[in-house]
Amino acid sequence: MEDLVEFLERHGFVAAEEEAGELRARAAGDAELLSSMVERRLTGEPLAWITGTVEFCGTWIRVDPGVYVPRWQSELLAERALARLGPGRVAVDLCTGCGALAVILASSGARVVATDVHEASVACARANGVDAVVGDLFAPLPRSLAGSVDLVAGVVPYVPTSELSLLQRDTFTFETELAYDGGPDGCAILRRAIAGAAEFLAPGGTLMLELGGDEAELLRPDLASSGFADVAVLRDEDGDVRGVEATLAP
Ligand SMILES: C[S@@+](CC[C@H](N)C(=O)[O-])C[C@H]1O[C@@H](n2cnc3c(N)ncnc32)[C@H](O)[C@@H]1O
Repeated sequence: MEDLVEFLERHGFVAAEEEAGELRARAAGDAELLSSMVERRLTGEPLAWITGTVEFCGTWIRVDPGVYVPRWQSELLAERALARLGPGRVAVDLCTGCGALAVILASSGARVVATDVHEASVACARANGVDAVVGDLFAPLPRSLAGSVDLVAGVVPYVPTSELSLLQRDTFTFETELAYDGGPDGCAILRRAIAGAAEFLAPGGTLMLELGGDEAELLRPDLASSGFADVAVLRDEDGDVRGVEATLAP
Protein backbone atom coordinates (compact mmCIF):
# COMPACT_ATOMS: atom_id res chain seq x y z
CA MET A 1 0.00 0.00 0.00
CA GLU A 2 1.24 3.53 -0.73
CA ASP A 3 2.12 5.78 2.18
CA LEU A 4 -1.06 6.35 4.23
CA VAL A 5 -0.58 10.12 4.46
CA GLU A 6 -0.25 10.44 0.67
CA PHE A 7 -3.20 8.10 0.17
CA LEU A 8 -5.44 10.19 2.45
CA GLU A 9 -4.23 13.43 0.84
CA ARG A 10 -5.02 12.03 -2.58
CA HIS A 11 -8.57 11.32 -1.33
CA GLY A 12 -9.04 14.91 -0.18
CA PHE A 13 -8.39 14.67 3.58
CA VAL A 14 -6.95 18.03 4.63
CA ALA A 15 -5.52 16.79 7.94
CA ALA A 16 -4.07 13.64 6.36
CA GLU A 17 -1.01 13.47 8.59
CA GLU A 18 -2.97 13.73 11.85
CA GLU A 19 -5.59 11.28 10.61
CA ALA A 20 -2.95 8.78 9.51
CA GLY A 21 -1.31 9.07 12.93
CA GLU A 22 -4.56 8.38 14.77
CA LEU A 23 -5.51 5.48 12.49
CA ARG A 24 -2.07 3.88 12.83
CA ALA A 25 -2.10 4.30 16.61
CA ARG A 26 -5.52 2.64 16.85
CA ALA A 27 -4.48 -0.20 14.54
CA ALA A 28 -1.38 -0.83 16.67
CA GLY A 29 0.38 -2.71 13.87
CA ASP A 30 -2.66 -4.77 12.75
CA ALA A 31 -2.58 -4.23 8.97
CA GLU A 32 -6.00 -5.79 8.38
CA LEU A 33 -7.61 -3.55 11.01
CA LEU A 34 -5.85 -0.49 9.55
CA SER A 35 -7.11 -1.30 6.08
CA SER A 36 -10.72 -1.77 7.29
CA MET A 37 -10.56 1.52 9.23
CA VAL A 38 -9.25 3.36 6.16
CA GLU A 39 -12.10 1.85 4.11
CA ARG A 40 -14.60 3.21 6.63
CA ARG A 41 -12.94 6.63 6.61
CA LEU A 42 -13.20 6.81 2.81
CA THR A 43 -17.01 6.61 3.16
CA GLY A 44 -16.89 9.87 5.17
CA GLU A 45 -17.56 8.21 8.55
CA PRO A 46 -16.20 10.49 11.30
CA LEU A 47 -12.62 9.60 12.28
CA ALA A 48 -13.53 9.58 15.97
CA TRP A 49 -16.21 6.92 15.41
CA ILE A 50 -13.58 4.72 13.77
CA THR A 51 -10.76 5.23 16.27
CA GLY A 52 -13.15 5.61 19.25
CA THR A 53 -11.56 8.79 20.60
CA VAL A 54 -11.07 12.49 19.94
CA GLU A 55 -8.77 15.05 21.53
CA PHE A 56 -10.59 17.96 23.19
CA CYS A 57 -8.74 20.62 25.18
CA GLY A 58 -5.73 18.30 25.31
CA THR A 59 -7.72 15.39 26.76
CA TRP A 60 -8.60 12.21 24.86
CA ILE A 61 -12.34 11.58 25.07
CA ARG A 62 -14.20 8.41 24.10
CA VAL A 63 -16.71 8.90 21.29
CA ASP A 64 -19.06 6.05 20.36
CA PRO A 65 -20.51 5.67 16.85
CA GLY A 66 -23.68 7.76 16.56
CA VAL A 67 -22.52 10.31 19.13
CA TYR A 68 -21.69 13.90 18.06
CA VAL A 69 -17.95 14.46 17.76
CA PRO A 70 -16.83 17.53 19.78
CA ARG A 71 -15.39 20.27 17.58
CA TRP A 72 -12.25 22.34 18.11
CA GLN A 73 -14.30 25.56 18.06
CA SER A 74 -16.00 24.52 21.32
CA GLU A 75 -12.64 24.56 23.14
CA LEU A 76 -12.89 28.34 23.54
CA LEU A 77 -16.09 28.02 25.55
CA ALA A 78 -14.73 25.06 27.52
CA GLU A 79 -11.59 26.92 28.56
CA ARG A 80 -13.52 30.04 29.51
CA ALA A 81 -16.01 28.03 31.53
CA LEU A 82 -13.25 26.03 33.22
CA ALA A 83 -11.67 29.28 34.46
CA ARG A 84 -14.91 30.04 36.38
CA LEU A 85 -14.94 26.76 38.28
CA GLY A 86 -13.15 25.07 41.14
CA PRO A 87 -13.79 22.70 44.05
CA GLY A 88 -17.16 23.31 45.72
CA ARG A 89 -18.70 24.86 42.60
CA VAL A 90 -21.59 23.32 40.66
CA ALA A 91 -21.97 23.32 36.88
CA VAL A 92 -24.50 22.01 34.39
CA ASP A 93 -23.53 20.92 30.86
CA LEU A 94 -26.60 20.98 28.60
CA CYS A 95 -26.71 18.72 25.52
CA THR A 96 -23.54 16.97 26.63
CA GLY A 97 -23.08 14.51 23.74
CA CYS A 98 -20.05 12.35 24.64
CA GLY A 99 -19.49 14.60 27.67
CA ALA A 100 -16.33 16.34 26.45
CA LEU A 101 -17.21 19.73 27.93
CA ALA A 102 -18.34 18.13 31.20
CA VAL A 103 -15.05 16.20 31.47
CA ILE A 104 -13.05 19.42 31.09
CA LEU A 105 -15.26 21.30 33.59
CA ALA A 106 -15.01 18.46 36.11
CA SER A 107 -11.21 18.66 35.94
CA SER A 108 -11.57 21.85 38.03
CA GLY A 109 -12.87 19.82 40.96
CA ALA A 110 -16.40 21.20 40.51
CA ARG A 111 -19.49 18.98 40.61
CA VAL A 112 -20.76 18.73 37.03
CA VAL A 113 -24.10 17.28 35.96
CA ALA A 114 -24.97 16.84 32.31
CA THR A 115 -28.04 16.08 30.22
CA ASP A 116 -28.81 14.94 26.69
CA VAL A 117 -31.96 13.57 25.06
CA HIS A 118 -29.96 10.98 23.12
CA GLU A 119 -29.53 7.77 25.12
CA ALA A 120 -26.37 6.62 23.31
CA SER A 121 -24.77 10.00 24.03
CA VAL A 122 -25.59 9.78 27.72
CA ALA A 123 -24.17 6.23 27.83
CA CYS A 124 -20.99 7.50 26.16
CA ALA A 125 -20.73 10.48 28.54
CA ARG A 126 -21.10 8.09 31.48
CA ALA A 127 -18.33 5.92 30.03
CA ASN A 128 -16.23 9.10 30.09
CA GLY A 129 -16.97 9.41 33.82
CA VAL A 130 -19.63 12.12 33.49
CA ASP A 131 -22.67 12.29 35.80
CA ALA A 132 -25.09 12.38 32.86
CA VAL A 133 -28.84 11.87 32.67
CA VAL A 134 -31.23 11.39 29.76
CA GLY A 135 -33.78 14.12 29.09
CA ASP A 136 -34.65 17.50 27.63
CA LEU A 137 -32.32 20.32 28.77
CA PHE A 138 -32.95 20.89 32.53
CA ALA A 139 -35.92 18.49 32.84
CA PRO A 140 -34.02 15.47 34.24
CA LEU A 141 -32.05 17.48 36.83
CA PRO A 142 -32.95 17.23 40.52
CA ARG A 143 -35.16 20.17 41.56
CA SER A 144 -32.83 20.63 44.54
CA LEU A 145 -30.31 22.21 42.12
CA ALA A 146 -32.69 25.06 41.21
CA GLY A 147 -31.25 28.42 42.23
CA SER A 148 -27.90 26.94 43.29
CA VAL A 149 -25.85 26.32 40.12
CA ASP A 150 -22.73 28.46 39.55
CA LEU A 151 -22.36 27.87 35.82
CA VAL A 152 -24.61 26.61 33.03
CA ALA A 153 -22.75 25.83 29.82
CA GLY A 154 -23.80 24.16 26.63
CA VAL A 155 -23.12 23.41 23.02
CA VAL A 156 -26.77 22.98 22.11
CA PRO A 157 -28.10 22.62 18.53
CA TYR A 158 -28.04 26.09 16.91
CA VAL A 159 -28.06 25.69 13.14
CA PRO A 160 -31.12 27.36 11.55
CA THR A 161 -33.25 24.64 9.94
CA SER A 162 -32.96 26.28 6.51
CA GLU A 163 -29.14 26.08 6.76
CA LEU A 164 -28.89 22.38 7.63
CA SER A 165 -28.44 21.58 3.94
CA LEU A 166 -25.31 23.79 3.90
CA LEU A 167 -23.50 21.58 6.43
CA GLN A 168 -20.62 19.40 5.18
CA ARG A 169 -21.69 16.95 2.49
CA ASP A 170 -21.16 13.84 4.66
CA THR A 171 -22.77 15.18 7.82
CA PHE A 172 -26.18 13.56 7.54
CA THR A 173 -24.88 10.36 5.97
CA PHE A 174 -23.80 9.47 9.49
CA GLU A 175 -25.27 12.02 11.93
CA THR A 176 -28.84 13.13 12.59
CA GLU A 177 -30.38 16.59 12.69
CA LEU A 178 -30.93 16.14 16.44
CA ALA A 179 -27.42 17.45 17.10
CA TYR A 180 -27.72 20.49 14.83
CA ASP A 181 -31.29 21.70 14.26
CA GLY A 182 -31.92 24.92 16.17
CA GLY A 183 -35.30 25.66 14.60
CA PRO A 184 -36.31 28.45 12.20
CA ASP A 185 -33.78 31.08 13.39
CA GLY A 186 -31.35 28.65 15.08
CA CYS A 187 -32.32 29.93 18.53
CA ALA A 188 -35.22 27.66 19.55
CA ILE A 189 -33.17 25.49 21.94
CA LEU A 190 -30.90 28.39 22.94
CA ARG A 191 -34.00 30.33 24.09
CA ARG A 192 -35.21 27.41 26.20
CA ALA A 193 -31.70 27.02 27.62
CA ILE A 194 -31.69 30.69 28.68
CA ALA A 195 -35.10 30.40 30.38
CA GLY A 196 -34.07 27.23 32.21
CA ALA A 197 -30.70 28.65 33.22
CA ALA A 198 -32.45 31.58 34.91
CA GLU A 199 -34.24 29.04 37.08
CA PHE A 200 -31.22 26.86 37.93
CA LEU A 201 -28.43 29.43 38.32
CA ALA A 202 -27.68 31.05 41.66
CA PRO A 203 -27.83 34.87 41.61
CA GLY A 204 -24.56 36.05 40.03
CA GLY A 205 -24.17 32.70 38.24
CA THR A 206 -22.78 32.45 34.70
CA LEU A 207 -24.41 31.25 31.50
CA MET A 208 -22.18 30.29 28.54
CA LEU A 209 -23.68 29.05 25.30
CA GLU A 210 -22.03 28.29 21.99
CA LEU A 211 -23.73 29.95 19.02
CA GLY A 212 -22.86 31.65 15.77
CA GLY A 213 -23.70 34.39 13.27
CA ASP A 214 -26.10 36.99 14.64
CA GLU A 215 -27.65 34.68 17.23
CA ALA A 216 -26.20 36.55 20.22
CA GLU A 217 -27.97 39.70 19.00
CA LEU A 218 -31.22 37.79 18.40
CA LEU A 219 -31.05 36.51 21.96
CA ARG A 220 -30.41 39.82 23.74
CA PRO A 221 -34.14 40.39 24.50
CA ASP A 222 -34.46 36.81 25.84
CA LEU A 223 -31.41 37.26 28.06
CA ALA A 224 -32.73 40.56 29.40
CA SER A 225 -36.24 39.27 30.08
CA SER A 226 -34.82 36.24 31.94
CA GLY A 227 -32.78 38.53 34.19
CA PHE A 228 -29.32 38.27 32.61
CA ALA A 229 -26.88 41.18 32.53
CA ASP A 230 -23.24 41.73 31.43
CA VAL A 231 -23.88 40.05 28.10
CA ALA A 232 -20.61 39.39 26.23
CA VAL A 233 -20.25 37.97 22.75
CA LEU A 234 -17.37 35.47 22.53
CA ARG A 235 -15.24 35.62 19.38
CA ASP A 236 -12.37 33.45 18.26
CA GLU A 237 -9.00 34.77 17.10
CA ASP A 238 -10.39 35.25 13.58
CA GLY A 239 -13.17 37.45 14.97
CA ASP A 240 -15.90 34.86 14.31
CA VAL A 241 -18.74 34.73 16.85
CA ARG A 242 -18.47 31.49 18.87
CA GLY A 243 -20.64 32.06 21.91
CA VAL A 244 -22.41 34.27 24.40
CA GLU A 245 -21.75 34.73 28.09
CA ALA A 246 -24.04 36.45 30.61
CA THR A 247 -24.50 36.79 34.35
CA LEU A 248 -27.76 36.21 36.21
CA ALA A 249 -28.39 39.51 37.95
CA PRO A 250 -28.17 39.14 41.77
C1 LIG B 1 -24.06 19.98 18.81
S1 LIG B 1 -24.21 18.53 19.79
C2 LIG B 1 -23.08 18.97 21.11
C3 LIG B 1 -22.67 17.83 21.97
C4 LIG B 1 -21.58 18.20 22.98
N1 LIG B 1 -21.98 19.31 23.81
C5 LIG B 1 -20.29 18.52 22.28
O1 LIG B 1 -19.93 19.69 22.11
O2 LIG B 1 -19.60 17.56 21.88
C6 LIG B 1 -25.79 18.78 20.48
C7 LIG B 1 -26.30 17.69 21.40
O3 LIG B 1 -27.59 18.11 21.85
C8 LIG B 1 -28.41 16.98 22.08
N2 LIG B 1 -29.79 17.48 22.14
C9 LIG B 1 -30.57 17.91 21.12
N3 LIG B 1 -31.72 18.39 21.59
C10 LIG B 1 -31.67 18.28 22.95
C11 LIG B 1 -32.56 18.64 24.00
N4 LIG B 1 -33.75 19.20 23.76
N5 LIG B 1 -32.18 18.40 25.29
C12 LIG B 1 -30.98 17.81 25.55
N6 LIG B 1 -30.10 17.44 24.59
C13 LIG B 1 -30.43 17.69 23.31
C14 LIG B 1 -28.03 16.06 20.93
O4 LIG B 1 -28.35 14.73 21.22
C15 LIG B 1 -26.51 16.31 20.82
O5 LIG B 1 -25.80 15.38 21.61
